[in-house]
Parts: sequence; structure tokens; C-alpha cells
Amino acid sequence: MASPIHTVVFPVAGLGTRFLPATKAVPKEMLPVVDRPLIQWAVEEAAAAGCTRFVFVTAPEKSAILQHFSPAPQYTEALTARGKTKELALLQAGLPQNAELIEVYQDQPLGLGHAIWCAKQAVGDAPFAVILPDDMVQHSQGCLSQMVEAHARVGGNLVAVENVPADQTHHYGVLDPASESEGLVAIQGLVEKPAQGQAPSTLAMIGRYIFEPEIMHTLSRTIAAGETGAGGEVQITDAMAQLIGQMPLHGLRFQGTRYDCGSRDGFLEANVAFSLAQASESGDNDLKSKLSRLLD
Ligand code: G1P
Repeated sequence: MASPIHTVVFPVAGLGTRFLPATKAVPKEMLPVVDRPLIQWAVEEAAAAGCTRFVFVTAPEKSAILQHFSPAPQYTEALTARGKTKELALLQAGLPQNAELIEVYQDQPLGLGHAIWCAKQAVGDAPFAVILPDDMVQHSQGCLSQMVEAHARVGGNLVAVENVPADQTHHYGVLDPASESEGLVAIQGLVEKPAQGQAPSTLAMIGRYIFEPEIMHTLSRTIAAGETGAGGEVQITDAMAQLIGQMPLHGLRFQGTRYDCGSRDGFLEANVAFSLAQASESGDNDLKSKLSRLLD
């Protein structure tokens, strides 16, 4: 069955202040994990889930992101002349053949909810996915594919969730769970970045969402009213919470390991984990033993 989720939004306008100096001239989404930038991993995950429309909510100074997915005649010509077909295929940068790329600017850093709202026109009146490329999930079935399957069963708004240590909940949007069945948690409340000791649970949202188009109307109202949430920003978590009771809201306990590539440690861990996985897949035992030796 073809996926009903065609459009994916990547909110990538933010400054990578946690990764200075690496991100002074290079957008953080362009930092490579193994052999491709974070944004390409995210695009490949969305493509594997059936998405064909890729909306980048970005900023003028981050033009390298769209450039990465644009034709590169200097390479095409040189590689064609040399008959390098394998390298030519790599220029596709993970995009499916029928991909449509849309660039939208977020002119002010007003929060994740605002960034998603900037994609309102591009998204139109259909359910859509959101991927925060900082969060990488390693599993044989991509996290978004797992969510598309779950969404086909329950509809409504859906977010990927996992348990985090109790002393880390203040970094996340946290669930107030009502009930749970087969990995799907029905949500009765949400809190964005709760104060220490105030979290309703340790179940945290990670950067994978599927939304019904109504979320855009909720965000429009919030923004028009000038309302803000945690950190003085327009929070997607608050918009999701407002729709509880009007449509289903579930958290999917996804299969796989998440790496927070927005942090130095998570980024380094992801590089090792994905390198080892690639070495295993390709049977590159030499690289595997080199990495293992380093980690001993
Ligand atoms: C955002 C969301 C938060 C979510 C997190 C996952 O926060 O606002 O609800 O738990 O992503 O990575 P940020 O990390 O952008 O502060």
C-alpha cells in the first residue's frame, strides 16, 4: 500500500550553538555521520517511509542544505567523462527520483511550533511528517516507516517516544500517559521541558511526528494571539496538547536506538554506531577491528 504521508517537514533554521566552532560556517545539519550529512540521513529515512515532498524550513545563511540536494553539474560532467557510475549515483544524495523539494524561510527564531507553521502553505490540507535531523534512530526499519504504519491504524497526531532518565526530562516534551497497548501510548497531557521533579512521567518525545493538518490551524491561532510557551517560544508540544480530545494523540515506542546528534557525545556515539553497522553490513572486518581496538 502506498504511504498516505507524502510530505515531510525538516525544521532546520536554527543556529548550531552547541556545536561551535564546527557550525560557524557549516550548518549543523551538514555535519557528517560516517559518510553523509545528518540532513541526508533524515531525507533517506523519510524517503523510505514513502515521502516524496521534502520541505526545508531554513534560513538564508544555511543555503548549503538545499545545495546538497541540488544538481551539481561540475561533478556530473567530470564523473560522466570518467565513467564513474557509482559516484554519479551518490550525487542523488538519497532523494527518490520523483522528489519535490521546497524551501521555506523562518525569518525569526520563534520556536519549533513557529518553524513548523512556516511550512503551512507547502503542507496543504493533508497529514504530514516532521523530522528533527538531530535525532537519529538506528534500526533496520526506519523510525518514520514504523510511525506511518502505526498512523494507518490509529490516525490523529502521533509522536515517537522513549523513556529517558528522570534527571533528563527537563530537556524534552514529556507525556502524561493514559493507557498503553502494543507499543502505542494514549496521551492525556503533555508538558514541554518540565522543571526538575515536575515531569508527569519519564516518557519523552523525540524528533519524529506525524500531524493531521489541524495542527496548523492551532498554531495559526496561537501565533495570531501572541501566545508562547516554555522558553518564551511557540511550542509544537502545546499545539499538540490543545488538540487532545478533538482527535487521537498517541506516542509510539519505536524500535531502535536513538542518538541525540545535537550533543557532542550523542554525535560521536552515532558516528561509531553507524560506522560499525556499515562495516558489519559490508563485511568490512578490517574497519570493525580497527574501531573495536580504538574503543578498548
Ligand atoms: C524539541 C521539542 C521537544 C522534544 C525534543 C526532541 O526540543 O520541543 O518536545 O522532546 O525536540 O529532540 P529541542 O531539543 O529542540 O529543545
